[in-house]
Amino acid sequence: MDRGLFITFEGIDGCGKTTQLNLLANYLKENGFEVVVTREPGCKGIGEKIRSLLLNSKDDVSSNCEAFLFLADRAQNIDNIVKPAVERGAIVLCDRHTDSTIAYQGYGRGIDINHLKKLNTLATGDFLPDLTLVFDIDVETSQKRVGEVKDRMESIGVDFTRKVRNGYLDIAINEPNRVKVINSKDSIENIFEQVKSLIKTKLG
Ligand code: TYD
Repeated sequence: MDRGLFITFEGIDGCGKTTQLNLLANYLKENGFEVVVTREPGCKGIGEKIRSLLLNSKDDVSSNCEAFLFLADRAQNIDNIVKPAVERGAIVLCDRHTDSTIAYQGYGRGIDINHLKKLNTLATGDFLPDLTLVFDIDVETSQKRVGEVKDRMESIGVDFTRKVRNGYLDIAINEPNRVKVINSKDSIENIFEQVKSLIKTKLG
């Protein structure tokens, strides 16, 4: 493979995307691919510090400040981890990316979506995912899975989560070629079968 693949994993909190990402990483490695796993927020290095600011800060954080911190982490992740790996032929699996900002800061917080799209383009240099998997669960299941100990983003509330979920479903309707929705109330094994079949269409 000359150019690799860039695959992003999305969904509301507790949707099971990280479990599926790890299963896929192992599966691809066993099949001889070079796999690079990264996440947003919290890419290796400075991204980990930005993640801690975003999720653990007890200070007041304005919506725009929050958005720019997610975007700063994204710029670092794309320039230092994602782009070099995809260009040398690796498969990059990224836990959250641009669609999280549209869903959470756009649909959730109410920041203008066209502005956020421009900022995403600036942060990524228009380096787009080849495939985005949205793991969809209902808001009640999300609340149960997140449990009692919540980070700053998980503490915002049920109405916010509902808006974010609707955001993801809208994104998938608007970009059906890139974004695939997977019903994540199924068993881990059945969901993984769907993940594998979607990835195979991209591996050619
Ligand atoms: P994540 O590490 O995926 O949390 P979890 O494993 O609990 O799903 O993401 C951290 C939080 O940051 C999550 O609540 C979603 C939020 N987020 C945004 O609001 N905007 C963004 O652009 C990104 C990347 C994440």
